Amino acid sequence: MSDSRAIGVFDSGLGGLTVVNELVRLMPNERIIYLGDTARVPYGGRSHETIRQYGLQDARVLMEMDIKLLIVACNTVSSVALDYLEQHIKDIPVIGVVLPGAKAAVLRTTGKKVGVIGTMATVGSGSYAKAIQDIDPSIKVFGKACPLFVPLVEEGLLDHEITKLTVQYYLKELIDFGIDCLVLGCTHYPLLTKVIQDTVSAGIQLLDSALWTAKEAQDTLTKLNALAPDGIDGFASSRFMVSDLTSRFESLAETLMGRRLPGIEKVSLDEIAAYQ
Ligand code: DGL
Repeated sequence: MSDSRAIGVFDSGLGGLTVVNELVRLMPNERIIYLGDTARVPYGGRSHETIRQYGLQDARVLMEMDIKLLIVACNTVSSVALDYLEQHIKDIPVIGVVLPGAKAAVLRTTGKKVGVIGTMATVGSGSYAKAIQDIDPSIKVFGKACPLFVPLVEEGLLDHEITKLTVQYYLKELIDFGIDCLVLGCTHYPLLTKVIQDTVSAGIQLLDSALWTAKEAQDTLTKLNALAPDGIDGFASSRFMVSDLTSRFESLAETLMGRRLPGIEKVSLDEIAAYQ
């Protein structure tokens, strides 16, 4: 059996494309419908109430499009509002990025000292520590919010001197704690992989929750017999929607995906905000 409906993916901005990239690599037949709420990004410094409201509105836009699986490709929304979304969305499975990243950390840690970096909301929520320690309570988790990373990525300063200094500034504390694994707990951060890896040395393994989330999606669809039929170029018929379209988004999206998106549509913010 197969299911040709699309996978819905949303993020506060363009970072969720790191998840799309892994989905396309793992499951090239799958059609994706992506929503990036670029008019309201960043979510990471907002209140839990606002993050829940925005997250549900984004989910509702995708639910209107007859999707078979919803991926919350935003660590902030996954940390603060996943339960809330699950309460409102009953018909299809909902996958966040925190649990797959946490499972990867449990699997990969060698010294049981895991670092987690993310937005203020993600680190403040303790979501990764909880998910990791629910599986193995003996693992110590050290969180560090890195609020300047998202604007640096959005500015395209992926390998700039300012970015190197900022990475050193935020990560020193975690390196001093003796972590052996570092979870990139924000969908923008995989774009900083090189600078982060150079800063933390080869001894610390970086875990990108995007990759593990795509694997979780594949497992879920396989169990449900809901993978797309063979012989389809899913990416070519995928849709990419944003609430604010700038030329910077287009060029960063291309850098991130390593190819042009098949077309980017603008959805009006009023339309998104009308969902309750
Ligand atoms: N997408 C968000 C995350 O993964 C980062 C950007 C934001 O703060 O909205 O946490």
